[in-house]
Amino acid sequence: MAKPELAGHARTMQALERIIASKGIRLAPPLDEEDHSHSGAQAWRHEARASYALNRWRAATPPRFQDAQTTIPEVAAWADTTLAEPGSAGALLLTGLTGTGKTHEAYGALRRIAAGGPDRYELVAMNSADMYGHLRPTKEVGAMEDRLRRLSQVQYLLLDDLGTTKVSEWTEEITYRLINHRYNHCLPTIITSNLPARDANGPDLTDFVGDRVASRLAEMVSTLVPMVGVDRRRGRGAA
Ligand SMILES: Nc1ncnc2c1ncn2[C@@H]1O[C@H](COP(=O)(O)OP(=O)(O)O)[C@@H](O)[C@H]1O
Ligand SMILES: [Mg+2]
Repeated sequence: MAKPELAGHARTMQALERIIASKGIRLAPPLDEEDHSHSGAQAWRHEARASYALNRWRAATPPRFQDAQTTIPEVAAWADTTLAEPGSAGALLLTGLTGTGKTHEAYGALRRIAAGGPDRYELVAMNSADMYGHLRPTKEVGAMEDRLRRLSQVQYLLLDDLGTTKVSEWTEEITYRLINHRYNHCLPTIITSNLPARDANGPDLTDFVGDRVASRLAEMVSTLVPMVGVDRRRGRGAA
C-alpha cells in the first residue's frame, strides 16, 4: 500500500518535471535508465551544452540573422579555434563594403561556436553606433562604467560596424578602454567594419580607432577577412 506522503512526493516530482520541461531544460538521464557507457554520457553532455549555447545565441541574434551560417573557411576555422582554445583565438576582423555579408558571417561564427558545445557561452552582440549610445554618460553615477565593464568582460563580443560613427575624443577613449581590456585578457572578439584595415590612400580603421587601438588590434586580430562581392541587399531588391 503506497504511503500518502510517498504519493505526495511523486506528485511534487511530476509537477517539477513538467515545469522544468516547459522551460526547455533537459535533466541528465538517470544512469540506470540510459546508456551506461562513458561515450554515451559524454555525448549527452555535449548535446546539452550545445543546446544551452544555441539558445543563448538565438536570444542574442536579431531575426534577420537567425539562419546565419559561416560560408567562409577562414571564418569557420576561427570559430573552431575559439571553441578549442578561447584564450589563444584572438580577434576576427571582417571588413568590406555594405551588403557583402559581414554581419551574417559574424553571427554564423558565433553560432558555430555554440553548436560545438562550449563549456560556457556568454555573448553580447552590438552595433557600434548603438554601443556608443548605450555608453553615453548619464546622471546615474557608475551606470556607464558598469555597462562598459560588461562589454569589456563578456566572454564573446561582436562589435558590428565599427567606424560608422563620428570620431571624437570620447569615442576613441571608449574604444580604447574596451579593446585594451579584451586585448589584455585575450577575450575572443569579432569586429566588422565598412572601413578597410589599412588604406594608404583613404580612410581606414586606424583613422577611426586611433593609433593606440590600431596597434592592439594589429596584434589581437588573428583572422582578417576582407569581404568582397556585390551588395546582397540590392541584388535581392533588383531580383
Ligand atoms: N552567405 C549568405 N547567405 C545568405 N544570405 C546572406 C549571406 N550573407 C549575407 N546574406 C544576407 O544578405 C544581406 C546583407 O548581409 P549583411 O551580413 O547584413 O551584410 P553587411 O553586414 O556586410 O552589410 C542580409 O540580408 C543577409 O541576411
Ligand atoms: Mg552589417
